[in-house]
Amino acid sequence: IMDSKRDMTDALELLKWQLELGVDENVGNIPLNRFSDHSQSDEVKVGTPVSTQQKIPNISSAITEAESRAEQSKTLDQLKASLANYEFCDLKKGSRNLVFSSGDPDAEVMIIGEAPGREEDIQGVPFVGRAGQLLDKMLRPIGLTRNKDQINDNLINTAYICNVIPWRPPHNRDPNTDEIEMMLPFLKRHISLIEPKIIVALGNISCRALIGQTGITKLRGNWFDFDETPLMPMCHPAYLLRNNSAKKDAWSDLLKIKEKLEDIA
Ligand code: URA
Repeated sequence: IMDSKRDMTDALELLKWQLELGVDENVGNIPLNRFSDHSQSDEVKVGTPVSTQQKIPNISSAITEAESRAEQSKTLDQLKASLANYEFCDLKKGSRNLVFSSGDPDAEVMIIGEAPGREEDIQGVPFVGRAGQLLDKMLRPIGLTRNKDQINDNLINTAYICNVIPWRPPHNRDPNTDEIEMMLPFLKRHISLIEPKIIVALGNISCRALIGQTGITKLRGNWFDFDETPLMPMCHPAYLLRNNSAKKDAWSDLLKIKEKLEDIA
């Protein structure tokens, strides 16, 4: 009994050590299916990228498919289901959860980030890690909260939060052009279902998807239009965590959003 107990303890310690090394992290650029049953086909080898094992259409038909599914989604629940069933984006295969949205669907402010990170992937909720906590802290002083129940004399408006990409990219790499293009029809539908009065685009990926421009340090602080909805580009909170000096600019952008909200009200 002693021995088997010790074996168990050793095995547990070994597993903990592997976890610390990141055994549960997705590290390659392309998801690998290490569980594929290669006895069924000589061509499919264990470790072959999933994308080559399945009949993935070319990018333009993947986009057409995304457009038709997005168009058919008449409610947020339907849109979420359409995304969950969309098999043409490889990122889905390397992620734990679909990270759809958080916040109040009736919000006037819609905040759009890049893609989920580790915490978001685990919880299936956008912006819950360190960057997300900073985002919540940034919103509070301009009276915004993603939690409707917190509305009071100081927190007077709600926000709705999602990402351009709803699945965590391997090792938090930037999503590539194909992945952004495939998700864009869903994102546009998402925006039209929420009908925000103001859009906040966090970081370069979000600006590239929504206004076709990058160079966030130049774009930030200026109003753009997305289908006639005012859009404010801001530095991503993950960037602000690493660059304290950019927080001053972020504060000035937040004040512009507050002003615009007051104008609209
Ligand atoms: N960064 C993002 O862009 N989105 C998240 O949900 C979390 C971190």
